[in-house]
Amino acid sequence: MARMTLEGVACGPATMEQYRALETGDILYFPTTPFEITDEDRAFLLTQRQVDASYHKNISYRPAQDRLKGVDAQNAADRKHMHAVMKRYSQHAISFVAGLLPRYTSGWKIDYASFRPNEEQGRKLSRRARNDLIHVDSFPTRPSYGDRLMRIFTNVNPERPRIWATSDHFAALARVYARPAGLPFAPAGWWGGLRGAADRLLSRLGLPVVDRPEYDRFMLRFHHFLKENEAFQQNCRKDLWAFSPGSSWIVFTDSSSHACLSGQYALEQTFIISRENLAYPDLSPISILEQMTGFPLAPSRKCA
Ligand SMILES: [Fe+2]
Repeated sequence: MARMTLEGVACGPATMEQYRALETGDILYFPTTPFEITDEDRAFLLTQRQVDASYHKNISYRPAQDRLKGVDAQNAADRKHMHAVMKRYSQHAISFVAGLLPRYTSGWKIDYASFRPNEEQGRKLSRRARNDLIHVDSFPTRPSYGDRLMRIFTNVNPERPRIWATSDHFAALARVYARPAGLPFAPAGWWGGLRGAADRLLSRLGLPVVDRPEYDRFMLRFHHFLKENEAFQQNCRKDLWAFSPGSSWIVFTDSSSHACLSGQYALEQTFIISRENLAYPDLSPISILEQMTGFPLAPSRKCA
């Protein structure tokens, strides 16, 4: 994986070369976070702990509902303060990314922001939830219908870098592992149609069933397959990255395979980028997979 560095805060709209780099696996790295996080907000974040870390993997903020989850709410004033800090980070990150990557803003979906106050090294999580195993992202509760998952991260730790390992791009991984991970050879047929109808019905009745198209079912399987494949984890190519204190970086985590090996105190905002607005839609995971299957794996989110 190559790495691209953009210096300073005055980065104008990205060039087509930068869009291509981002969409094909590069990390856009900012040694100094290019939007404001006040010293007071940073200091407050370093005092935060998270409640029930086995259930809530991170503290999350949902911009659409202006709602905070996973925070230790011993003290109402602290909770309110945390809510305000997360809201500010989310707004500033969105505004910066909108200026840097304007072609994505039409039709994008602003997903959750998160704060990761726990040390990543040695975290006690289930194998599928572990961050220190190489994987590509897929959200179990929020199917993307082939739209892309892009995230901006900020290391607010004042002293220590956040360490990632990355491996091959999705295109290379899919060539070797998509079939063993269960990429279908044929459309789902009547059984798939029946299962989809049942999922939609149960979901509309308010039951905790997620109606996923084949693309999202596969991507979730692929996420689990990579994390559970010991030979892959041991033997895959690994590049190590140290994201220094105060830095930010942007990456499409549905195609750049990654693992967070160590680090504490990171902020993050996720964006769901519409397939229609990608600079190179043919290089997206859904296009790569559909070239392999020869049939569509999801309707466009607009039609879903
Ligand atoms: Fe991830």
